[in-house]
Amino acid sequence: MKKILVTGGSGFIGSHTIIDLIQNGYEVINIDNYSRSNPRILEGVEKILSQKIKVYKVDLCNYDDTYAVFQENPDIAGVIHFAAYKAVGESVEQPLLYFENNLMSLINLLKCVKDFKIPHFVFSSSCTVYGNPDAIPVTEETDPKPAESPYGYTKQMGEQIVGETVKSIETTAILLRYFNPVGAHPSGIIGELPVGRPQNLVPAITQTAIGKLDQMTVHGNDYNTRDGSCVRDYIHVCDLAHAHTLALNYLIQRRNTTRCEVFNLGTGNGVTVLEAITAFEKVSGVKLNYVIGPRRPGDVVATYANNDKAKTSLGWDTKYNLDDMMRTAWQWELNLKKDEELYKNQKSSLN
Ligand code: WQD
Repeated sequence: MKKILVTGGSGFIGSHTIIDLIQNGYEVINIDNYSRSNPRILEGVEKILSQKIKVYKVDLCNYDDTYAVFQENPDIAGVIHFAAYKAVGESVEQPLLYFENNLMSLINLLKCVKDFKIPHFVFSSSCTVYGNPDAIPVTEETDPKPAESPYGYTKQMGEQIVGETVKSIETTAILLRYFNPVGAHPSGIIGELPVGRPQNLVPAITQTAIGKLDQMTVHGNDYNTRDGSCVRDYIHVCDLAHAHTLALNYLIQRRNTTRCEVFNLGTGNGVTVLEAITAFEKVSGVKLNYVIGPRRPGDVVATYANNDKAKTSLGWDTKYNLDDMMRTAWQWELNLKKDEELYKNQKSSLN
Protein backbone atom coordinates (compact mmCIF):
# COMPACT_ATOMS: atom_id res chain seq x y z
CA MET A 1 0.00 0.00 0.00
CA LYS A 2 1.55 3.35 -1.03
CA LYS A 3 2.01 5.88 1.81
CA ILE A 4 0.94 9.47 1.12
CA LEU A 5 1.91 12.45 3.27
CA VAL A 6 -0.93 14.99 3.46
CA THR A 7 -0.17 18.43 4.90
CA GLY A 8 -3.09 20.32 6.40
CA GLY A 9 -5.04 17.07 6.59
CA SER A 10 -7.19 18.35 9.47
CA GLY A 11 -8.44 21.19 7.30
CA PHE A 12 -11.53 21.30 5.13
CA ILE A 13 -10.23 19.85 1.84
CA GLY A 14 -7.42 17.85 3.42
CA SER A 15 -9.74 15.90 5.73
CA HIS A 16 -12.10 14.96 2.90
CA THR A 17 -9.13 13.97 0.73
CA ILE A 18 -7.71 11.67 3.43
CA ILE A 19 -11.03 9.79 3.40
CA ASP A 20 -10.98 9.44 -0.39
CA LEU A 21 -7.32 8.35 -0.47
CA ILE A 22 -7.82 5.63 2.15
CA GLN A 23 -11.06 4.44 0.56
CA ASN A 24 -9.07 4.08 -2.66
CA GLY A 25 -6.32 1.95 -1.17
CA TYR A 26 -3.67 4.44 -0.02
CA GLU A 27 -2.07 4.69 3.43
CA VAL A 28 -2.03 8.27 4.77
CA ILE A 29 -0.06 10.25 7.35
CA ASN A 30 -0.95 13.85 8.21
CA ILE A 31 1.03 16.95 9.16
CA ASP A 32 -0.98 19.78 10.72
CA ASN A 33 -0.18 22.58 13.18
CA TYR A 34 -3.86 23.23 13.89
CA SER A 35 -3.41 26.98 13.35
CA ARG A 36 -6.52 27.01 11.15
CA SER A 37 -8.09 23.64 11.87
CA ASN A 38 -9.58 21.68 14.74
CA PRO A 39 -8.35 18.23 15.92
CA ARG A 40 -11.99 17.21 16.19
CA ILE A 41 -12.16 17.07 12.38
CA LEU A 42 -9.54 14.34 12.25
CA GLU A 43 -11.53 12.47 14.90
CA GLY A 44 -14.46 12.67 12.50
CA VAL A 45 -12.31 11.28 9.69
CA GLU A 46 -11.27 8.37 11.93
CA LYS A 47 -14.91 7.73 12.83
CA ILE A 48 -15.94 7.63 9.15
CA LEU A 49 -13.01 5.32 8.28
CA SER A 50 -13.06 3.29 11.53
CA GLN A 51 -9.28 3.63 11.69
CA LYS A 52 -6.66 5.91 13.29
CA ILE A 53 -4.72 8.43 11.22
CA LYS A 54 -1.12 9.15 12.19
CA VAL A 55 -0.78 12.93 12.65
CA TYR A 56 2.38 14.96 13.27
CA LYS A 57 1.61 18.27 15.02
CA VAL A 58 4.28 20.18 13.13
CA ASP A 59 4.55 23.70 11.72
CA LEU A 60 5.94 23.37 8.19
CA CYS A 61 7.63 26.74 8.67
CA ASN A 62 9.97 24.85 11.04
CA TYR A 63 12.35 23.04 8.68
CA ASP A 64 13.92 20.71 11.27
CA ASP A 65 10.55 19.49 12.52
CA THR A 66 9.37 18.93 8.95
CA TYR A 67 12.59 17.08 8.05
CA ALA A 68 12.12 14.76 11.05
CA VAL A 69 8.76 13.55 9.70
CA PHE A 70 10.41 12.46 6.46
CA GLN A 71 13.24 10.77 8.37
CA GLU A 72 10.65 8.77 10.30
CA ASN A 73 8.78 7.85 7.10
CA PRO A 74 11.34 6.93 4.41
CA ASP A 75 8.62 5.13 2.40
CA ILE A 76 6.53 8.20 1.48
CA ALA A 77 5.38 7.67 -2.15
CA GLY A 78 3.81 11.10 -2.60
CA VAL A 79 2.96 14.39 -0.92
CA ILE A 80 -0.27 16.38 -1.17
CA HIS A 81 0.28 19.91 0.14
CA PHE A 82 -2.86 21.63 1.45
CA ALA A 83 -1.50 23.53 4.46
CA ALA A 84 -1.85 27.27 3.75
CA TYR A 85 -3.89 30.30 4.77
CA LYS A 86 -6.63 30.91 2.24
CA ALA A 87 -8.93 33.79 3.11
CA VAL A 88 -8.84 36.41 0.35
CA GLY A 89 -10.05 39.27 2.54
CA GLU A 90 -7.66 38.48 5.40
CA SER A 91 -4.72 38.30 2.99
CA VAL A 92 -5.47 41.88 1.83
CA GLU A 93 -5.31 43.02 5.49
CA GLN A 94 -2.20 40.93 6.42
CA PRO A 95 -0.04 40.28 3.31
CA LEU A 96 3.20 39.44 5.15
CA LEU A 97 1.45 36.80 7.26
CA TYR A 98 0.37 35.13 4.02
CA PHE A 99 3.71 35.41 2.21
CA GLU A 100 5.66 34.06 5.18
CA ASN A 101 3.33 31.18 6.03
CA ASN A 102 2.32 30.00 2.58
CA LEU A 103 5.73 30.29 0.90
CA MET A 104 8.03 29.30 3.78
CA SER A 105 6.05 26.12 4.42
CA LEU A 106 6.11 25.20 0.73
CA ILE A 107 9.87 25.76 0.40
CA ASN A 108 10.64 23.68 3.50
CA LEU A 109 8.47 20.88 2.20
CA LEU A 110 10.07 20.92 -1.26
CA LYS A 111 13.56 20.81 0.31
CA CYS A 112 12.52 17.58 2.02
CA VAL A 113 10.91 16.24 -1.18
CA LYS A 114 14.24 16.86 -2.93
CA ASP A 115 16.43 15.38 -0.16
CA PHE A 116 14.28 12.29 0.33
CA LYS A 117 13.65 11.82 -3.41
CA ILE A 118 9.86 11.74 -3.02
CA PRO A 119 8.48 10.61 -6.41
CA HIS A 120 5.30 12.72 -6.63
CA PHE A 121 4.00 16.09 -5.37
CA VAL A 122 0.47 17.50 -5.64
CA PHE A 123 0.07 21.21 -4.92
CA SER A 124 -3.15 22.80 -3.73
CA SER A 125 -3.51 25.82 -5.98
CA SER A 126 -6.44 28.03 -6.74
CA CYS A 127 -8.45 29.74 -9.45
CA THR A 128 -7.33 32.97 -7.82
CA VAL A 129 -4.15 32.63 -9.92
CA TYR A 130 -6.27 33.78 -12.88
CA GLY A 131 -7.14 37.07 -11.16
CA ASN A 132 -10.03 38.78 -12.94
CA PRO A 133 -10.05 36.73 -16.18
CA ASP A 134 -10.85 38.55 -19.46
CA ALA A 135 -12.76 35.54 -20.76
CA ILE A 136 -14.64 32.85 -18.91
CA PRO A 137 -14.75 29.91 -18.53
CA VAL A 138 -11.01 29.83 -17.83
CA THR A 139 -8.86 27.00 -19.21
CA GLU A 140 -5.44 25.93 -17.91
CA GLU A 141 -3.97 27.88 -20.83
CA THR A 142 -5.64 31.10 -19.69
CA ASP A 143 -2.74 33.40 -18.82
CA PRO A 144 -2.67 34.19 -15.12
CA LYS A 145 -3.26 37.91 -14.60
CA PRO A 146 -2.03 39.96 -11.66
CA ALA A 147 -3.63 38.35 -8.64
CA GLU A 148 -6.38 40.29 -6.90
CA SER A 149 -4.97 39.56 -3.44
CA PRO A 150 -1.78 38.52 -1.59
CA TYR A 151 -3.42 35.10 -1.16
CA GLY A 152 -3.66 34.83 -4.94
CA TYR A 153 0.00 35.88 -5.26
CA THR A 154 1.09 33.12 -2.84
CA LYS A 155 -0.62 30.60 -5.10
CA GLN A 156 0.92 32.08 -8.27
CA MET A 157 4.38 32.10 -6.69
CA GLY A 158 3.79 28.65 -5.22
CA GLU A 159 3.05 27.26 -8.67
CA GLN A 160 6.27 28.81 -10.03
CA ILE A 161 8.31 27.43 -7.13
CA VAL A 162 6.92 23.90 -7.63
CA GLY A 163 7.28 24.04 -11.42
CA GLU A 164 10.89 25.26 -11.32
CA THR A 165 11.91 22.88 -8.51
CA VAL A 166 10.73 19.68 -10.19
CA LYS A 167 12.67 20.56 -13.36
CA SER A 168 15.89 19.76 -11.51
CA ILE A 169 14.84 16.71 -9.45
CA GLU A 170 13.21 13.35 -10.20
CA THR A 171 9.87 14.31 -8.63
CA THR A 172 6.82 14.81 -10.90
CA ALA A 173 4.14 17.31 -9.87
CA ILE A 174 0.56 18.37 -10.44
CA LEU A 175 -0.93 21.78 -9.66
CA LEU A 176 -4.64 21.58 -8.87
CA ARG A 177 -6.44 24.89 -9.33
CA TYR A 178 -9.52 24.69 -7.10
CA PHE A 179 -12.48 26.88 -7.76
CA ASN A 180 -14.73 27.37 -4.73
CA PRO A 181 -14.80 24.35 -2.42
CA VAL A 182 -18.08 24.05 -0.47
CA GLY A 183 -20.38 21.48 1.13
CA ALA A 184 -19.57 18.67 3.55
CA HIS A 185 -19.13 14.90 3.71
CA PRO A 186 -22.55 13.22 3.16
CA SER A 187 -22.20 11.46 6.53
CA GLY A 188 -22.54 14.88 8.22
CA ILE A 189 -19.63 13.93 10.51
CA ILE A 190 -17.09 16.34 9.04
CA GLY A 191 -17.29 19.63 7.15
CA GLU A 192 -15.94 23.16 7.03
CA LEU A 193 -15.01 24.56 10.44
CA PRO A 194 -13.86 28.15 9.96
CA VAL A 195 -11.75 29.62 12.78
CA GLY A 196 -13.42 32.87 13.83
CA ARG A 197 -15.92 34.76 11.70
CA PRO A 198 -16.32 32.92 8.37
CA GLN A 199 -14.77 34.70 5.39
CA ASN A 200 -16.26 32.33 2.80
CA LEU A 201 -19.79 32.48 1.45
CA VAL A 202 -21.25 29.10 2.34
CA PRO A 203 -20.19 28.95 6.00
CA ALA A 204 -21.38 32.56 6.33
CA ILE A 205 -24.75 31.43 4.95
CA THR A 206 -25.08 28.39 7.21
CA GLN A 207 -23.87 30.22 10.34
CA THR A 208 -26.37 33.01 9.70
CA ALA A 209 -29.16 30.51 9.10
CA ILE A 210 -28.45 28.66 12.35
CA GLY A 211 -28.10 31.85 14.40
CA LYS A 212 -24.36 31.98 15.08
CA LEU A 213 -24.31 35.19 13.05
CA ASP A 214 -27.18 37.67 13.32
CA GLN A 215 -27.04 38.68 9.66
CA MET A 216 -24.76 38.25 6.65
CA THR A 217 -23.74 40.78 4.04
CA VAL A 218 -23.70 40.24 0.30
CA HIS A 219 -20.54 42.05 -0.76
CA GLY A 220 -21.91 44.06 -3.65
CA ASN A 221 -24.73 43.67 -6.15
CA ASP A 222 -23.60 46.34 -8.62
CA TYR A 223 -21.20 44.18 -10.64
CA ASN A 224 -21.64 43.60 -14.37
CA THR A 225 -23.19 40.14 -13.89
CA ARG A 226 -26.68 38.72 -14.48
CA ASP A 227 -27.95 39.77 -11.06
CA GLY A 228 -25.19 42.17 -9.98
CA SER A 229 -23.51 39.80 -7.54
CA CYS A 230 -20.21 38.00 -8.11
CA VAL A 231 -20.02 34.74 -10.07
CA ARG A 232 -18.09 31.73 -8.78
CA ASP A 233 -17.72 28.03 -9.64
CA TYR A 234 -18.79 26.26 -6.43
CA ILE A 235 -17.57 22.67 -6.26
CA HIS A 236 -18.43 20.01 -3.69
CA VAL A 237 -15.50 19.20 -1.42
CA CYS A 238 -15.94 15.45 -2.03
CA ASP A 239 -15.65 15.91 -5.79
CA LEU A 240 -12.56 17.98 -5.16
CA ALA A 241 -11.12 15.34 -2.81
CA HIS A 242 -11.51 12.55 -5.36
CA ALA A 243 -9.59 14.59 -7.92
CA HIS A 244 -6.52 14.36 -5.65
CA THR A 245 -6.67 10.58 -5.62
CA LEU A 246 -6.97 10.55 -9.40
CA ALA A 247 -4.09 13.03 -9.72
CA LEU A 248 -1.83 10.74 -7.66
CA ASN A 249 -2.90 7.70 -9.69
CA TYR A 250 -2.06 9.68 -12.87
CA LEU A 251 1.49 10.42 -11.65
CA ILE A 252 2.13 6.97 -10.16
CA GLN A 253 1.02 5.34 -13.40
CA ARG A 254 3.36 7.75 -15.25
CA ARG A 255 0.57 9.02 -17.51
CA ASN A 256 1.91 12.56 -17.19
CA THR A 257 3.47 14.08 -20.31
CA THR A 258 5.54 16.79 -18.56
CA ARG A 259 7.17 17.11 -15.13
CA CYS A 260 4.58 19.56 -13.85
CA GLU A 261 0.97 19.64 -15.10
CA VAL A 262 -1.94 21.93 -14.23
CA PHE A 263 -5.62 21.03 -13.85
CA ASN A 264 -8.69 23.20 -13.20
CA LEU A 265 -11.04 21.69 -10.63
CA GLY A 266 -14.44 23.29 -10.98
CA THR A 267 -17.87 22.13 -12.14
CA GLY A 268 -17.88 24.38 -15.20
CA ASN A 269 -20.97 26.19 -13.90
CA GLY A 270 -20.95 29.85 -12.82
CA VAL A 271 -23.27 30.70 -9.91
CA THR A 272 -23.91 34.17 -8.47
CA VAL A 273 -23.92 34.92 -4.74
CA LEU A 274 -27.66 35.59 -4.82
CA GLU A 275 -28.32 32.34 -6.72
CA ALA A 276 -26.29 30.45 -4.09
CA ILE A 277 -28.41 32.01 -1.34
CA THR A 278 -31.61 31.08 -3.19
CA ALA A 279 -30.43 27.48 -3.55
CA PHE A 280 -29.66 27.35 0.17
CA GLU A 281 -33.09 28.72 1.10
CA LYS A 282 -34.71 26.13 -1.16
CA VAL A 283 -32.97 23.07 0.29
CA SER A 284 -32.97 24.25 3.92
CA GLY A 285 -36.39 25.87 4.08
CA VAL A 286 -34.73 28.76 5.95
CA LYS A 287 -35.23 32.38 4.86
CA LEU A 288 -31.75 33.89 5.09
CA ASN A 289 -31.26 37.20 6.88
CA TYR A 290 -28.87 39.19 4.65
CA VAL A 291 -28.28 42.73 3.50
CA ILE A 292 -26.54 44.08 0.41
CA GLY A 293 -23.32 45.82 1.41
CA PRO A 294 -20.30 47.37 -0.30
CA ARG A 295 -17.95 45.44 -2.57
CA ARG A 296 -15.14 43.48 -0.81
CA PRO A 297 -11.55 44.50 -1.74
CA GLY A 298 -9.75 41.70 -3.61
CA ASP A 299 -12.89 40.09 -5.00
CA VAL A 300 -12.87 38.75 -8.54
CA VAL A 301 -16.04 39.76 -10.43
CA ALA A 302 -16.73 36.50 -12.25
CA THR A 303 -14.89 33.25 -12.80
CA TYR A 304 -15.70 29.64 -13.53
CA ALA A 305 -13.79 26.68 -14.93
CA ASN A 306 -13.38 24.87 -18.18
CA ASN A 307 -12.72 21.43 -16.63
CA ASP A 308 -12.31 19.38 -19.82
CA LYS A 309 -8.62 18.63 -19.15
CA ALA A 310 -9.24 17.04 -15.74
CA LYS A 311 -12.15 15.06 -17.15
CA THR A 312 -10.11 13.78 -20.09
CA SER A 313 -6.71 13.19 -18.49
CA LEU A 314 -7.61 12.29 -14.92
CA GLY A 315 -10.89 10.53 -15.70
CA TRP A 316 -12.54 12.90 -13.20
CA ASP A 317 -16.13 14.11 -13.10
CA THR A 318 -18.30 15.88 -10.55
CA LYS A 319 -21.13 13.99 -8.82
CA TYR A 320 -22.63 16.70 -6.59
CA ASN A 321 -24.79 19.62 -7.78
CA LEU A 322 -25.47 23.01 -6.11
CA ASP A 323 -28.42 21.66 -4.10
CA ASP A 324 -26.23 18.80 -2.79
CA MET A 325 -23.59 21.35 -1.80
CA MET A 326 -26.08 23.42 0.16
CA ARG A 327 -27.86 20.40 1.65
CA THR A 328 -24.65 18.81 2.98
CA ALA A 329 -23.33 22.14 4.24
CA TRP A 330 -26.58 22.74 6.11
CA GLN A 331 -26.70 19.19 7.56
CA TRP A 332 -23.15 19.68 8.86
CA GLU A 333 -24.11 23.02 10.48
CA LEU A 334 -27.12 21.36 12.13
CA ASN A 335 -24.90 18.55 13.44
CA LEU A 336 -22.41 21.10 14.75
CA LYS A 337 -25.13 22.73 16.77
CA LYS A 338 -25.90 19.35 18.30
CA ASP A 339 -22.29 19.08 19.37
CA GLU A 340 -22.35 21.65 22.18
CA GLU A 341 -18.58 21.57 22.76
CA LEU A 342 -17.68 22.57 19.19
CA TYR A 343 -20.59 25.00 19.00
CA LYS A 344 -19.72 26.79 22.26
CA ASN A 345 -16.01 27.12 21.25
CA GLN A 346 -16.98 28.49 17.87
CA LYS A 347 -19.60 30.86 19.36
CA SER A 348 -17.03 32.31 21.76
CA SER A 349 -14.45 32.77 19.00
CA LEU A 350 -16.95 34.86 17.03
CA ASN A 351 -17.51 37.41 19.80
C1 WQD B 1 -17.28 34.09 -2.77
C2 WQD B 1 -18.23 35.22 -3.08
C3 WQD B 1 -17.75 37.22 -1.88
C4 WQD B 1 -18.86 35.94 2.12
C5 WQD B 1 -12.36 31.37 -2.15
C6 WQD B 1 -11.31 30.95 -1.18
C7 WQD B 1 -9.97 30.83 -1.85
C8 WQD B 1 -10.08 30.08 -3.14
C9 WQD B 1 -11.14 30.65 -4.05
C10 WQD B 1 -9.47 27.76 -2.89
C11 WQD B 1 -17.50 36.55 -3.21
C12 WQD B 1 -19.13 36.68 -1.52
C13 WQD B 1 -18.61 35.92 0.76
C14 WQD B 1 -19.90 36.76 2.63
C15 WQD B 1 -20.39 37.49 0.40
N1 WQD B 1 -10.38 28.70 -2.94
N2 WQD B 1 -19.37 36.68 -0.07
N3 WQD B 1 -20.63 37.50 1.74
O1 WQD B 1 -13.31 34.96 -2.34
O2 WQD B 1 -13.98 33.41 -4.21
O3 WQD B 1 -12.21 32.73 -2.52
O4 WQD B 1 -12.35 30.59 -3.29
O5 WQD B 1 -8.32 27.82 -2.94
O6 WQD B 1 -9.17 30.12 -0.95
O7 WQD B 1 -11.24 31.93 -0.18
O8 WQD B 1 -14.64 32.85 -1.92
O9 WQD B 1 -16.49 32.34 -0.40
O10 WQD B 1 -14.89 34.22 0.23
O11 WQD B 1 -16.47 34.53 -1.67
O12 WQD B 1 -21.07 38.18 -0.37
O13 WQD B 1 -20.17 36.83 3.86
O14 WQD B 1 -19.14 35.36 -1.99
O15 WQD B 1 -17.76 38.63 -1.95
O16 WQD B 1 -18.14 37.31 -4.22
P1 WQD B 1 -13.54 33.59 -2.82
P2 WQD B 1 -15.61 33.47 -0.83
